[in-house]
Amino acid sequence: MKISVKEFDAMQMGWRKWYIEKVELKTFRKFGLVIEGADILEVGCGSGYAASLIAAQGPHSYTGLDIMPEQLEIARNRGLKQASFVEGSADDLSRFPEKRFDAILDFCILHHVEGWRAFFDECHRVLKDDGSLYVADLSKRCIHIVDAILHWGHAEEALFTLKEFEEEANRRGFRTVRKANDLGLEGYFRFQKVN
Ligand SMILES: C[S@@+](CC[C@H](N)C(=O)[O-])C[C@H]1O[C@@H](n2cnc3c(N)ncnc32)[C@H](O)[C@@H]1O
Repeated sequence: MKISVKEFDAMQMGWRKWYIEKVELKTFRKFGLVIEGADILEVGCGSGYAASLIAAQGPHSYTGLDIMPEQLEIARNRGLKQASFVEGSADDLSRFPEKRFDAILDFCILHHVEGWRAFFDECHRVLKDDGSLYVADLSKRCIHIVDAILHWGHAEEALFTLKEFEEEANRRGFRTVRKANDLGLEGYFRFQKVN
């Protein structure tokens, strides 16, 4: 789902960049993410701030996927080495071959994706056998609070509790390796592909 103009603007702000770098990416690293030499897919890459951090750490390849062409244009204009950006939805990774990626990263976009359940199946197909999915995302409770205050208008069908999110991942071929959450609002997971 396209994000609202207000949310789009908020995503370009300094606080969001700080949070991606100092909290979310740092947590992924703590959970075992290796970027150097790896093939990385980021879903919902937005304007490419996380891409710029990742590309600086020497991946073999970085691919950013997003549904908003205006965000992708900002990302492409960063001129990052080893990085490519493609338009598409996180719940349809059919453009990628099987076992293409070592790691798939989500920085807070799956609460926009109505097909978040199918997303796990897509990830399972395109991850290498020892690949992992790293998620930092917002619970239904968190989004309800945000929408009550900021009126960003998220679609209810895309929202999930952190418990149902994890259970769905486990049902669809992923083992939980690490997890943490901030007051049940933002959840962090590393899910490893089970073959
Ligand atoms: C809240 S922003 C987060 C952007 C960036 N990851 C960040 O943390 O700043 C949500 C992003 O998800 C993208 N998005 C929404 N639905 C999507 C979908 N189905 N597939 C891929 N990207 C999607 C939006 O275009 C937007 O760039």
